[in-house]
Amino acid sequence: MMRTPIMAGNWKMHKTAREAVEFVTRLQKELGDWEETEVVVAPPFVALAPVAERLQGTKIALAAQDCFWEEQGAYTGEVSPPMVRDVGCRYVIIGHSERRAYFGETNETVNKKVKAALAHGLHPIICVGESLEQRERGDTFTFVGRQVKECLQGLEEAAIQKMVIAYEPIWAIGTGKTATPEQAQEVHTFIRGVVAETFSPQGAEVLRIQYGGSVKPDNVDELMAQPDIDGALVGGASLVVESFARIVRFERR
Ligand code: PGA
Repeated sequence: MMRTPIMAGNWKMHKTAREAVEFVTRLQKELGDWEETEVVVAPPFVALAPVAERLQGTKIALAAQDCFWEEQGAYTGEVSPPMVRDVGCRYVIIGHSERRAYFGETNETVNKKVKAALAHGLHPIICVGESLEQRERGDTFTFVGRQVKECLQGLEEAAIQKMVIAYEPIWAIGTGKTATPEQAQEVHTFIRGVVAETFSPQGAEVLRIQYGGSVKPDNVDELMAQPDIDGALVGGASLVVESFARIVRFERR
């Protein structure tokens, strides 16, 4: 089964619209007509429109970092799935651990957002991952298993092919402490198993599972060598053209 690797840059709250456009212009130049990896950038909301315009005709896809579940209405500060779609996004990151930690998101709200995103033709990148405390207590599999089940609850089997799951152990995010390739692989296989059991083995086979948490040019190759790691969700290292381009063009081992 060939799963096209997918490398996504999660810029978080970095770069103005002008800086974002400048960045993707340089990234596009650097990557040329690179096709072996799917490349995605997720700038802040206010940069989406100008970046979308600049990316037209290129192979780089656009993602939003979040969206609400309602289509429109009195929800001050929120952005809806149709709006995200309309501005040119193909993907939307949902349930990042920072949203869970600072903005009260739960598996239940993630599930609502995933359904809304899918209903509007977006491909959700659904984030899961345990804390250091949970890992040390030996709760990683129970916790991540529950996250996957609750975030995907009530979805149709066909939805599996449209989404990406990002396994991001919280203790590895922005800490420089990457999970070892073996640690990541172990959880990725587990997640694929949960999806196979809950939906179908065929669905699980095509599902792309990204690893996230201090992915850098110097550790991406060994991570990508694992059979169940299908890409990376990159924070810090996606903010510099050269390092993100090197991650996109990881070396196959
Ligand atoms: P990091 O962030 O690469 O800076 O660790 C990853 C993420 O939060 O998606």
